[in-house]
Amino acid sequence: MNLTMKDEILKRFLLAKDNPISGQFLADDLGISRTAIWKHLQTLQEEGYVFETIKKKGYVLVGKPDKVDPARINSFLTTERFGRNIHYLDEVTSTQSIAHELAREGAVDGTLVIAETQTKGKGRMARPWESTKGKGVWMTIIIRPDVPPSQAPQFTLVAAVAIVNAIKSICKNFMPSIKWPNDILINGRKCTGILTEMLAEMDRVDALLIGIGINANQQQDDFPPDLQTIATSLSIEEKEEINRPQLVATILNYLELYCDQYIREGFKPIKALWEESSGTIGKQIKATTLREVIEGKAIGITENGVLEIQLENGEIKGVYSADIEIM
Ligand code: BTN
Repeated sequence: MNLTMKDEILKRFLLAKDNPISGQFLADDLGISRTAIWKHLQTLQEEGYVFETIKKKGYVLVGKPDKVDPARINSFLTTERFGRNIHYLDEVTSTQSIAHELAREGAVDGTLVIAETQTKGKGRMARPWESTKGKGVWMTIIIRPDVPPSQAPQFTLVAAVAIVNAIKSICKNFMPSIKWPNDILINGRKCTGILTEMLAEMDRVDALLIGIGINANQQQDDFPPDLQTIATSLSIEEKEEINRPQLVATILNYLELYCDQYIREGFKPIKALWEESSGTIGKQIKATTLREVIEGKAIGITENGVLEIQLENGEIKGVYSADIEIM
């Protein structure tokens, strides 16, 4: 849905920062009564927002609950389409499943599905995806590019570039890198995964569902034992709490920019950005595919996002899908 009246009110407080806003100003600006404004403020307070009353001046927002709600995402957005339609839910099975339904019902390009937690988060290769409540970014963006199905994998690389640049613009104490095809690592540990699914006809994509899972504010003991040594969060590495709505909006801002650039100019500029942030290219790696294990040096990606590995004998092999270990 687009912003509700309550979210419109909240957005004005978020943008006003520490400046008071009067009930009369809001009523005139939004074309509703002061009583209606007051009722919405009551609801916001019940949801955990805290307002201070300043005599003769109005209200100031002094406390916010830790949520990725639409108004807060919206206050950081600079996009035309991405994130302008947001479905925000407290708990879902998987944002991918909701996005599938919405896409089939005709959801517009750039529709965002985001939740505080997932009970059946899906990873690549049918693995489960841990989605701790209120700590991460668990979201799916529905995009509708006018491209043939063969170009779909490139959008995963576009998304990786958008996420890595959003993280770099918010976090200053570490360098994230992309591990082919679409994990984002910090100091060798995974903080982000991307799962792209497609609804398509024979010759054209109907919708791409770009699922993004980011460990944002977990501390090490929030992870289950099997992930303790391989996963990390932005907050652990940055040593600061991450503003999740700002992170979501910054990803959407970059994603719209790069998707549009890809459609206009092709894969070349995206490939360059991807390689710039890659922690795989130039390294000795072991790639485990369904059929074989390939060891060699990762030398680049092709126009189709295929990873090229140079073997010891000089031969170059292309890998479409694999688990990668950096040696
Ligand atoms: C991976 O295996 O690395 C991909 C993980 C993708 C997880 C995200 S979280 C939001 C969206 N909903 C899901 O169920 N999965 C993706």
